[in-house]
Amino acid sequence: MERAKITAAELRSWKGRRRIPTLTAYDHPMTRLLDEAGIPLILVGDSLGMVVLGYPDTTHVTLADMEHHVAAAARAKPCALLVGDLPANSYDTPEQALVSARRLVAAGAEAVKAEGGRGILPQVQAIVEAGIPFLGHLGMLPQHIHEEGRYRIKGKTEPEREALVADALALQASGAFAVVLELVTPPVAAELSKRLEIPTIGIGSGPDCDGQVLVTNDLVGTFPWFTPRFVKPNFQAFAGIRDAVEAWAQEVANGAPTTP
Ligand code: KIV
Repeated sequence: MERAKITAAELRSWKGRRRIPTLTAYDHPMTRLLDEAGIPLILVGDSLGMVVLGYPDTTHVTLADMEHHVAAAARAKPCALLVGDLPANSYDTPEQALVSARRLVAAGAEAVKAEGGRGILPQVQAIVEAGIPFLGHLGMLPQHIHEEGRYRIKGKTEPEREALVADALALQASGAFAVVLELVTPPVAAELSKRLEIPTIGIGSGPDCDGQVLVTNDLVGTFPWFTPRFVKPNFQAFAGIRDAVEAWAQEVANGAPTTP
């Protein structure tokens, strides 16, 4: 059966009715596979810096990297909403944020995501006023890993809880259609999910968010050298790949014909 195209407005309207399973994709085949599996929101995340490009963190990812991978994913023409991450330092001012968001949209993104709350509100407003759907990202902000020093759970103290609530309400008021909550304590993530009228999409933030997002490579085991503590991989693709490659290499070594 033909699936209808999913929009940001539709996902926003799922609040309280349907959960939003969200996964990352950085290329054409994975976007097609996730779309065929019925995933409604596909994120071309800057996590590609680690799981595809071999960097130690996301701060090395450039806007040109994101455009390249968003374009590859967009060629799959998914029914899912395709969101592109604005990489570090591509949204330092409202003007720069708008130029960067428009470049991702020109590459095929249907919405953009950026990290931060009240600190980036003028940027969010510029993007939303230009008619580009915006996905927020609060909690642990990987683009700030050098200031933070380590990946740390957010919301453990009262000032952190209050800051998260204020940031989330500000993003909602600025027109974000949903907000990712990364490594937020489960009680605070539950509170935000209750208080917000837009969906929350959690990653390592407990079961009470309106959706969940994972890096697909963590879920299916194509990046086995590091798996976050909150991920239970559903598949070990790396083992099958190694076995297939070793078996083929052995066939070649044994002199087996490799072409018909
Ligand atoms: O870059 C990314 O993949 C993300 C998700 C993990 C939320 O931001």
